[in-house]
Amino acid sequence: MRQPGGRVRVAVLISGAGSNMAALIDAGQAADAPYEVVLVLSNDPEAGGLAVARAKGVATAAVDHRPFGKDRAAHEAAIQSELETAGTEVVALAGYMRLLTPFLVGAWEGRMLNIHPSLLPKYPGLDTHARALTAGDAEAGCTVHLVTEGVDEGPILDQQAVPIVPGDTPATLAQRVLNAEHTLYPRALADFCRARIRSL
Ligand code: GAR
Repeated sequence: MRQPGGRVRVAVLISGAGSNMAALIDAGQAADAPYEVVLVLSNDPEAGGLAVARAKGVATAAVDHRPFGKDRAAHEAAIQSELETAGTEVVALAGYMRLLTPFLVGAWEGRMLNIHPSLLPKYPGLDTHARALTAGDAEAGCTVHLVTEGVDEGPILDQQAVPIVPGDTPATLAQRVLNAEHTLYPRALADFCRARIRSL
């Protein structure tokens, strides 16, 4: 558990490369950070981000969803066990590509954040960059929000817009948005954790 005056204990859930996760770890290792990443957990044992986290000195866990088949509840129970063992206070989803059931969402109500690559409420779900380009939008961006049962619907904590420029493809736009995510997410998580420390 957190010591009085200590940093908020954050677990980060990933499914892939984990570049946002790396940005969260780095910011949490600053001297005045209000949080520390105590666990990086993936549903994919092969996720590249797991090795990145280990190299940064952070504990990792993999809870492969495949052996659980359709039993999402059992998979989430195994995740919950890892989160509790690590003394987690706040969960940050960072490219975690599994839909959550009401069990895990309810267990972390008000304490689970997600980053999404669009300016919500525009473009919840997948293929956000292609949809923004098809719509002819002048800007795209990213959003950090609290996780609720509706997909990408929870209260918005912070957003960052980025311009769409002539010639953009979904790939070039995704990279520009991802760069913005790496600034937005650590800032939003730090603000959230500072508020949490003040309120406890
Ligand atoms: C990020 O762009 C994140 O916003 C997105 O996946 C990418 C993960 O990259 N998340 C979603 O689409 C969630 N619906 P990362 O693994 O390098 O952080």
